[in-house]
Amino acid sequence: MFFEKSFINCKFIKLFVSKKENLDKLKQKVEEADILLKDTSTNLVFGKGNPDANILFIGEAPGNNEDLQGIPFVGTAGKQLDEFLHMIDLCIDDVYIANILKYRPPNNRNPNVEEIKAHTPFLIEQIKIIQPKIIITLGNFSTKFVLSNFDVDKMKKIEGISVLHGKPVTKIINDLKFLVVPMYHPAAMLYKRSLKDDLEKDFLIVKTLL
Ligand code: URA
Repeated sequence: MFFEKSFINCKFIKLFVSKKENLDKLKQKVEEADILLKDTSTNLVFGKGNPDANILFIGEAPGNNEDLQGIPFVGTAGKQLDEFLHMIDLCIDDVYIANILKYRPPNNRNPNVEEIKAHTPFLIEQIKIIQPKIIITLGNFSTKFVLSNFDVDKMKKIEGISVLHGKPVTKIINDLKFLVVPMYHPAAMLYKRSLKDDLEKDFLIVKTLL
């Protein structure tokens, strides 16, 4: 069978587009989108880490430092996260990190339903590109979003992080299969030190899964 040369080239190129290139294209798409919170924030906070990683962390929303630098988890919570990664012999090159919201909510308030609905289609695209084997959800928002099968309206039916943390769940959503490991958000232990033990235990669970 004969194909036009241009068709073959096109197929070839499509097959070998890297995850990084696809994420770069998606980042540009988010930058161009006129979405909630864009006007009140400084920078888009898209994601960081290794696009080919097997582990994806999903946080909640950028804070002040992240907003200023356009990079997730660069403030105090980020330092904690780095320490936990180090504890299980991982570094940023072994993981990818993204958030539910791509822009900072004013005064770091909680994300609202409209914002989650506006921003999470981009997170789902990130997940489809990265195809992680393990998704670690940090805190209530990302845990409820993923465990509700990405259905924002069903998030309120999901139990809270104090019940769910450290209990891995296998999920198959739209042909994507991954293990979800819910954890407390590292920022939570800055307010309640006793959560540090829970976070350490939950990171050690991840270590057994690698
Ligand atoms: N907390 C988050 O959930 N995400 C960040 O990027 C920073 C702090």
